[in-house]
Amino acid sequence: MDWDEYIKWGEEVVHWGSNYRKNIRNFPVRSQNNPGDTYNLIPSSPPEKPEPIQNIFDDFNNLIMPGITHWQHPRFFAYFPSNAAPASVLAEMLANTIGSQCMLWQTSPAATELEEKIIDWLRVSMGLPDVFKGIIQDTASSATLTAVLTMREKSLNWTGNKTGLSGRSRLRIYASEEVHSSIDRAIWFSGIGEENLVRIPVYGELRSMDPGKLKNAIDQDKKNGFLPAGIIAATGGTSSGSCDNISLIGDIASKEKLYLHVDAAWAGSAMICSEFRKLWAGIEKADSIVFNPHKWLGAQFDCSVQFLKDPVIQKNTLSISPEYLKTKGIEGITNLSDYTIQLGRRFRSLKLWFLMRAEGMSGLRKVIRNHVKWTEKLYAKIKDLENIEITTTPILSLFTFRFVKSGISDNDNLNERILREINDEGKIYLTPTKVNNNYVIRFTAGTFEMDEKDLHVAYDCIKEKSERI
Ligand SMILES: Cc1ncc(COP(=O)(O)O)c(C=O)c1O
Repeated sequence: MDWDEYIKWGEEVVHWGSNYRKNIRNFPVRSQNNPGDTYNLIPSSPPEKPEPIQNIFDDFNNLIMPGITHWQHPRFFAYFPSNAAPASVLAEMLANTIGSQCMLWQTSPAATELEEKIIDWLRVSMGLPDVFKGIIQDTASSATLTAVLTMREKSLNWTGNKTGLSGRSRLRIYASEEVHSSIDRAIWFSGIGEENLVRIPVYGELRSMDPGKLKNAIDQDKKNGFLPAGIIAATGGTSSGSCDNISLIGDIASKEKLYLHVDAAWAGSAMICSEFRKLWAGIEKADSIVFNPHKWLGAQFDCSVQFLKDPVIQKNTLSISPEYLKTKGIEGITNLSDYTIQLGRRFRSLKLWFLMRAEGMSGLRKVIRNHVKWTEKLYAKIKDLENIEITTTPILSLFTFRFVKSGISDNDNLNERILREINDEGKIYLTPTKVNNNYVIRFTAGTFEMDEKDLHVAYDCIKEKSERI
């Protein structure tokens, strides 16, 4: 394929994209494929001779698209959203076309400097103090892993990378019992070990980890010869949106000199609206905060922002500078790969720049506020349906519920069955979680092109199931 043919197919792809997104409601939200459906349609070896793009494009439509779950569908109420607003898609096309690998300042100065500026735009938009700098990572999992490695190295006085963990006191990390599985994995991969992730029980309507129990656990561990290394708090936990009391937990972290990382992967985007900031009151006490603009802010996946109060600590943990990566003869530059696990870096700030300018911050705030408002309205109607029990009330745009029927002992099976039916029908897409050990259904609104009518479809769907139990 040459660059003239690229123009023809580029135009074709852009038209395809616009039609797809405008007509996306015609698709079932979750792919209706069975396992192996796509695999079995693809030849077992690649072609020896070049094929016309037309054939490849036809196969894309016929073989691939049926196996796609439509994350941009306005009735995608599963997991958390992964939005791709049009301006960010355009920027991603440009970044892909330029094809720069932005690991060092000199490998594309504009990418580094735009990233620094965009981090500051976001910081201001979210009301964070100017002590926070930051970086863009691929995912929250990577950001949390870097934070846990930093906790490890700081508590070991930067000797862990050199000499390893064996023969030392066991490190301890504290988190609520509601944190995301990416925290478990960060504890595994950092060599700290899952048994040293201390899960603090939650309390209250926001299901915050209990600060009193946190303090007791730290005291107990110190008495028993463990080495407390850090705390991971959450704003907007995955199961039900739980929010830790950052202010009280931050006080404990500062008194105990423990590094505090806050996982706000989903709910962080809502902090561009000042009225939601009470959910993370005290956030200025955090050392590291992660949020995913690729979830609720509208930036094409992947795009995760990590704010850092003292970036030097993370740099001391991760930076390595062999001769072939050194920049000689230029002062005052930042090499952003000093702060991440991967060396290679994509040009992710471009899509945030396009997005924030094309929508304006007021446009982005309006989208998030609508999602919260409409979710509350839906919740108010669903809670009055027969055979429905609300298991957690809305936090931002997330609540959980389950179908219940008196006389039926196994409500978990009942809910699993109904959820499968709902998703097989394809009008809406919901996913499950556990609350108080019960299998429950999550509802979360967050797709950019959703409107209130899409929630009416969700209501009708849930109502019909509740009546037919
Ligand atoms: C609260 C929370 N933290 C972390 C993650 C992991 O995000 P990522 O896929 O960016 O690693 C998720 C994913 O949904 C999440 O909900």
